[in-house]
Amino acid sequence: METLKISLNKKKYYVNIGYNIINNKDLVSKLKIFKNSVLITNTTIYKIYKNNVINNFKRLGIINKKIILQDGEIYKTFDSVQLIIEKLIKLNCGRNITLISFGGGVIGDITGFVSSIYKRGIKYINIPTTLLSQVDASIGGKTGVNNHLSKNVIGTFYHPEIVIIDLMFLRTLPKKEIISGFSEIIKYSILFDKNFFYWIKNNLNNILFMKKNFLLKCIKKSCEFKIKIISEDEKEKNSRMLLNLGHTFGHAIESFTKYKWSHGESVSSGIVMSSIFSNVLGKISSSEVNEIINLFKLIGLPTIGPKNMYSKDYLKYMLRDKKNICNKKVRLIIPEKIGRCVLLDNVDTNILIKVINKNFIN
Ligand code: NAD
Ligand code: GLY
Repeated sequence: METLKISLNKKKYYVNIGYNIINNKDLVSKLKIFKNSVLITNTTIYKIYKNNVINNFKRLGIINKKIILQDGEIYKTFDSVQLIIEKLIKLNCGRNITLISFGGGVIGDITGFVSSIYKRGIKYINIPTTLLSQVDASIGGKTGVNNHLSKNVIGTFYHPEIVIIDLMFLRTLPKKEIISGFSEIIKYSILFDKNFFYWIKNNLNNILFMKKNFLLKCIKKSCEFKIKIISEDEKEKNSRMLLNLGHTFGHAIESFTKYKWSHGESVSSGIVMSSIFSNVLGKISSSEVNEIINLFKLIGLPTIGPKNMYSKDYLKYMLRDKKNICNKKVRLIIPEKIGRCVLLDNVDTNILIKVINKNFIN
């Protein structure tokens, strides 16, 4: 088991990464310390893990109760928050409970958010079960839900007590969701590390066949990049904004498609559009844009947005993005080259429209 430490101003916690670590004795004893824990999961994960992991948690006294939500991004709403809170009240849960999030980014974001507001704050633990949540959503303390007008606009910064990343859970994850998770892994490589980008490209078969050591390297490296950034800029005043590469377009796609496009699929298209935007400004070279497009294609991720989504649709949602300052201009993260990205303020809407209309794809 590998352990990474997150040291923030007011909070320290550990990210444990490994294969079948959910049964690790030390971890189990750590989990047992959090008394009165309530498991939060969804119907899909409950069905798969009821007879082993969840029953085991019960048997070991790690969890007392469980709350099972419907599965899907469309349930990442205030209604689900209310539902959990009402159940906690009915179960007479006091401030001393701990919530255990057992699921992907959706369950993690909701659980973290409830934890930050229930009785003015209770503890929570993250056990991410998708690749995307293992490399991104489970660490860094961003919690929240969507509003029907915009994605992720309601939320808090509130960190878990411990994160347990067990690669064993990926064995039951549908291929589509594995591919979706690679969007965020490739994002880190474009942001910070050209060598990592080409390592992914050169080892694609081993990675896609989920060879343990290759997958472990992808997950650990991604967590290290994220931990470095959140340690410098926990509340996204500065460098943490970089982690939103591709997300301004991506969130627009998710909202427009009513979440039929997954987060990862939307982000890969968004990263390509940001790269083309940068190329139009004379920053990243056309050959590097093509490298980015090709890697996403090789993995099986989309490189253009939905066919029926037009520039007016993008702009509607992009102007609502939470990074924007209220001046009716979009803010965008763009790659200057593979391994280095910058934040652009006051994005020129005319160029944005041309990029969206694919006038510049070469
Ligand atoms: P998800 O949580 O919807 O999970 C995807 C699907 O996989 C779901 O159907 C789920 O039930 C299923 N699933 C999960 N684990 C499984 C397993 N082990 N076996 C079989 N099926 C399993 O989606 P996601 O991609 O994990 O997360 C996307 C969400 O994360 C978005 O809402 C996004 O905004 C959020 N996010 C948050 C952060 C953050 O910093 N808080 C970062 C990135 C993304
Ligand atoms: N996923 C972006 C962030 O955590 O800041």
